[in-house]
Amino acid sequence: MQSILQRAETQHTLTASEIVSLLGCQDPFSLFAAANRVRQKYVGDGVYLRGLIEFSSFCKNDCMYCGLRGSNTHAQRYRLSPGQIVEMAQKAAGYGYKTVVLQSGEDLWFTVERMCEIIREIKKLGLVITLSIGEKTREEYAAYRQAGADRYLLRIETTDKQLYEKLDPRMSFENRMRCLYDLKDLGYEVGSGSLVGLPGQTLESLADDLLFFKQLPVDMAGIGPFIPHPHTPLSQESVEGHFELSLKMMALMRLLLPDINIPATTAMETLHPQGRLLALKCGANVVMPNVTEGDYRKQYELYPGKICTAESPAQCRGCIQGKIKSIGRFVSNRPGFHGEYLKNR
Ligand code: 5AD
Ligand code: FES
Repeated sequence: MQSILQRAETQHTLTASEIVSLLGCQDPFSLFAAANRVRQKYVGDGVYLRGLIEFSSFCKNDCMYCGLRGSNTHAQRYRLSPGQIVEMAQKAAGYGYKTVVLQSGEDLWFTVERMCEIIREIKKLGLVITLSIGEKTREEYAAYRQAGADRYLLRIETTDKQLYEKLDPRMSFENRMRCLYDLKDLGYEVGSGSLVGLPGQTLESLADDLLFFKQLPVDMAGIGPFIPHPHTPLSQESVEGHFELSLKMMALMRLLLPDINIPATTAMETLHPQGRLLALKCGANVVMPNVTEGDYRKQYELYPGKICTAESPAQCRGCIQGKIKSIGRFVSNRPGFHGEYLKNR
């Protein structure tokens, strides 16, 4: 294992079977340490913050794992007005965020015209914009890009086509792939990622996910543990082992793609009180604090036990900065584009 790790650390390559054995290893200490060294060398000690605005909980899709799925009649649905979204972005800029992430379910109320108008207004504030609003046509992606969107997050969730189509009824694996390739082609910084611990998911398929991210290649990749939501068909599934496996996935991602942006995801902290800090020590270099205000936070319930539902944007900003400092890192004041650290060093 040591020699495989040494090669991964210096050459950033691993075969599928090497990844599987590292994902299954009993003592991941040296994997985590290697990922932390690579993180420091390629992206430094600065942590990029992205302000997350969850602007609509309506979704036309029906993913089996997600609390926002259309069939969940218990879900509380809300939709912010374009004016409210821009106002939250303005406040995010005031807290010092350089990037806002606009995230929602797939909500058809937000037509391409409405989205482009919101993007143009937010660009006037000098912010970098990341969209996370699901599958759209190439023309729509092109229009958002033209309006000023810089980055796009669309997790593949799993590269196991059969599993994907079982868990995401009404959706096709080919179309999701098409979206990712279109986004790349249109000049977005593309973020993808996986859910870890889905029922039926194997270590082999997780290895394929990592190799897919390397092949695309992605500019960012978010790994989140699957957390069963009580009002979904997967409510009875277990959460056992998902946290540790997600940390290993993040660490391996850092070894394979040394300079990309890797968030310490909020779902990690739902499963472990130090979840995001542990992720930052295992390869991650980004945190996405919530800047959504009021009751909307808890209504945007992808999974249960979401953190920070009672906190304000100001509280999260202060809290996360303190946590980052406590592990000897700092909040970067740069926009945090892919590769920026190496270029500016
Ligand atoms: N547990 C953890 N993450 C989830 N997501 C959706 N449902 C869940 C869940 N039950 C993630 C998906 C999606 C992102 C916005 O939220 O990976 O891409
Ligand atoms: Fe929200 Fe800590 S990040 S309270």
